[in-house]
Amino acid sequence: MSTNQSLRPVTAEIVENHLFIGGCDTVELAHKYGTPLYVIDETTIRKICSEYKEAFKDYHNIHMMYACKSLCNLAVLKILDTEGFGFDTVSAGEIYTAYKAGINMKKVLFNGNNKSAKEIELALEYGIGRFSVDNFYEAELLNRIASSKNTKADILLRITPGIECHTHDYIQTGQIDSKFGFNLNLIDEIINLIKTEYKNLNLKGIHAHIGSQIFETRSYYDEVEILIRELARIKEVHGITLNEMNIGGGLGVKYTNDDTPPSVAELARAVTEAMKKALDKYAIEEPVIYIEPGRSIISTSGITLYTAGSKKTIPNVRKYIALDGGMADNPRPAMYQAKYTADVANKMNNPKTEFVTLAGRYCESGDILIENIKLPNIEAGDIVCIYNTGAYNYSMASNYNRVEKPAMVLVNNSQSAMIVSRESLDDLIARESIPDRLRK
Ligand code: LLP
Repeated sequence: MSTNQSLRPVTAEIVENHLFIGGCDTVELAHKYGTPLYVIDETTIRKICSEYKEAFKDYHNIHMMYACKSLCNLAVLKILDTEGFGFDTVSAGEIYTAYKAGINMKKVLFNGNNKSAKEIELALEYGIGRFSVDNFYEAELLNRIASSKNTKADILLRITPGIECHTHDYIQTGQIDSKFGFNLNLIDEIINLIKTEYKNLNLKGIHAHIGSQIFETRSYYDEVEILIRELARIKEVHGITLNEMNIGGGLGVKYTNDDTPPSVAELARAVTEAMKKALDKYAIEEPVIYIEPGRSIISTSGITLYTAGSKKTIPNVRKYIALDGGMADNPRPAMYQAKYTADVANKMNNPKTEFVTLAGRYCESGDILIENIKLPNIEAGDIVCIYNTGAYNYSMASNYNRVEKPAMVLVNNSQSAMIVSRESLDDLIARESIPDRLRK
């Protein structure tokens, strides 16, 4: 089983009725650091990184990039750096975090469909490795800024391969009607502009990303075939050999027992087989591949601990247990109807006797974290653990209802370290001011 196929961090164990992660008692962590609390297990991150490296080891021309959007902070980027990963970033904030984490900026790629001039300038100043140019506007802007700085930007072209993959509508990015990238019929036009006008863009290759939480390796197979076909076509039409190809991220994870994501090895097999076949068919040189997973690298390593509070029982309808967090620390259930799995961390061996609905604390009826889950009897003060919250939880967290964002701790070898501190009430008003005229 590969790590993205596990519901829980790989170090999860039960010791005296308590859930332990990374050798740490999660109940003690909850009491020490407070709740809600994001807990990240270093062993789980390192294990999935090894699985990616192992699965693609025969393919020597590969760069693993971590998609920072899934979870971006100094400590997490440092761990991925020590695993030899590069970084896919989409904002000045992510680029700055990578810079401050001490990462070699040549290993950073800048993605996104509306990069600002300010972000482009920062990226050029830091000397980042690649820009994935998304559209005509950006190509012109990047060329202009690079030219004003007397430098050249190494770029990939983000293309829309026209693949439908079976995942939630909001997280498909490669289909024809997408806000991202150049549709295939526009590639010649942009290449012509680069050849004739945009002298400060150095075209290295192409880039696509077909979606997220993908369960079908067939989608990757088709994607690779299309990208290789495009490389061959570009060579023929424009006489340019591009030898880089970024296939994006997207591998799914197991949020509940109903989820059956493929293993990293299965993903690698689809990519490698599709490569072999397409290279034979189109007779071009093997390109360097970039792969940029986010969710599958970080999701399983993360859990969120909450303290149970109030209860509301509606006879013959349902029993709500309210937690001290919710849609501001994990917006995914409200946004995508995402499903999760939970345990009561201080009652791990107690029989699961009742169906409850785990509600958030935010002022919105839709703030439900898990509907109808069978758990042991929950009392106020119990610690509820929701699994698989490493990706797109903290990174999409908000201060809705003016609630402080939770802390994050990293666990490893029975030790815990706070890597993001909890926001304070003063943090919430730190950048605010009252105009003088209102003070009178
Ligand atoms: N590369 C590009 C260009 C992307 O747009 C994405 C994700 C990734 C890589 C990483 O994909 P991953 O391996 O994490 O699936 N907020 C949504 C997910 C949005 C994904 C956006 N792009 C969620 O919570 O499900």
